[in-house]
Amino acid sequence: MRNTFVIFGGTGDLTNRKLLPAFFHLLEEEKLPQEMEIVIIGRRPYSQEQYLAQLETILSPKIIQNSIWKKLQSHLYYYQMNYENKEEYPSLEQFLSSVDEKHHTNHQRIYYLAVAPEYFAPIVDYLEENKLLHPVQGYPKVVIEKPFGKDLNSASYLNGKIVSRFKEENTYRIDHYLGKEMLQNIMVIRFANALFEPIWNKDFIEQIQISSLETIGIETRGDYYEKSGATRDMAQSHLLQLLSLVAMEKPASLSSDAIRDEKVKVLNRLKRYPEEEIHHHIVRAQYQSYRQEPKVYSESSTETYFALHATIDNPRWSGVPFFIRTGKKAAKKETEIIIQFKAIKNGLYPEVVNLPNFLVIKIQPSEGIFFQFNAKKPGTQSLIVPVQMDFCQNCQTGINSPEAYERLLFDVIRGDATLFARWDEVKSSWEFIDSIMTHWANHPETLSFYPDNTWGPIASDELMRQWGYQWINLGEKE
Ligand code: BG6
Repeated sequence: MRNTFVIFGGTGDLTNRKLLPAFFHLLEEEKLPQEMEIVIIGRRPYSQEQYLAQLETILSPKIIQNSIWKKLQSHLYYYQMNYENKEEYPSLEQFLSSVDEKHHTNHQRIYYLAVAPEYFAPIVDYLEENKLLHPVQGYPKVVIEKPFGKDLNSASYLNGKIVSRFKEENTYRIDHYLGKEMLQNIMVIRFANALFEPIWNKDFIEQIQISSLETIGIETRGDYYEKSGATRDMAQSHLLQLLSLVAMEKPASLSSDAIRDEKVKVLNRLKRYPEEEIHHHIVRAQYQSYRQEPKVYSESSTETYFALHATIDNPRWSGVPFFIRTGKKAAKKETEIIIQFKAIKNGLYPEVVNLPNFLVIKIQPSEGIFFQFNAKKPGTQSLIVPVQMDFCQNCQTGINSPEAYERLLFDVIRGDATLFARWDEVKSSWEFIDSIMTHWANHPETLSFYPDNTWGPIASDELMRQWGYQWINLGEKE
């Protein structure tokens, strides 16, 4: 397996913080092909030496002091160009051909677009026009970062461009949540345990809560965030992917298409709410200091918090509420899925009606599984108390738990698309999100506010109350 990995936007944060460390670890674990050259495309006028030297001020000392870093350096090429300028592509063609020749990589190229979405279409056009897309078995591949469009229209346009140049099986739409260790564990927990598989449905499950909260604000990303907001940034991609993994039917096999076939069915069955009902199901809010953030409009109505009451219209989930929330400047960084089972009502122990079982899939910062069930309190005659089993996965794997990007890059190289979003999934998610965005555009007054570093707006608690539930903050329970 020989190839050239070409990264557009190669001097950006993503490449420095995620991609290069991921390549480093893959090389350390001997998971990179012997002949794999990495071409970093950036606008800055660095020489090869200057590029490598400035990396040493950015990457962690643990990386640059390791002998593997020297090895990785020998596979890195810096190439300066303005990727918006089509006149510069013939020279890129010559450069990449010279890399091919030197390393016998035979035009097997992977193009990674770590650039803003408006550049996706021109870049692929210029690559095609300048004969940079050689159809070699399994190649060329393209890796696209989110956001994939800003609504269904723009995403469809983009997709049209991509599929006219690349085969769907060679197109990798990144959703880095899918690379997280515990997301990959969801299917195993569900389908490899007699304890859970038979009861994963409306007869036994009362409600499901999916939360992805962050303590950080938008930091330096005001520009991007003003156009995206929490709903496009987190819900359309990461949270709906989580939902589809939790709710999907058993796939016919573990092939990437069989899994994605089932995930997309869930997205298609997500109930779309009529315009006049949307406000009963959705809350959006902004953290109090947001308008003072750099590059944020002083009267911005962009949401930094989003909560949704969702239902899935199929026999497995009919009547089960899925509550989803995401927010910045929250009280705690926490991504988790809480499954609350229905309480036992067989009359033998009436007190357990208020002591349901919980299964929590902890995604980050700690990775693991928490299970709460009922048992007799030792030493008492019949006092029933909830007891907890807490399996901490990253306590065992520690810092070696593979970073999402490590797994995703590895899969792109070996050609496994399971952990990437297929177009029909992206399309269905946008269809769902678009109706919400349209409602908000017509009703800017629906925005509420929450103090920084809290669990979110009061409106979100009210939403829950309206449906007869409340947010379960396990951190507070512990
Ligand atoms: C990104 C969003 O996709 O995910 C960011 O653009 C967000 O706004 C980030 O902070 C969260 O990722 P993680 O892995 O830290 O949960």
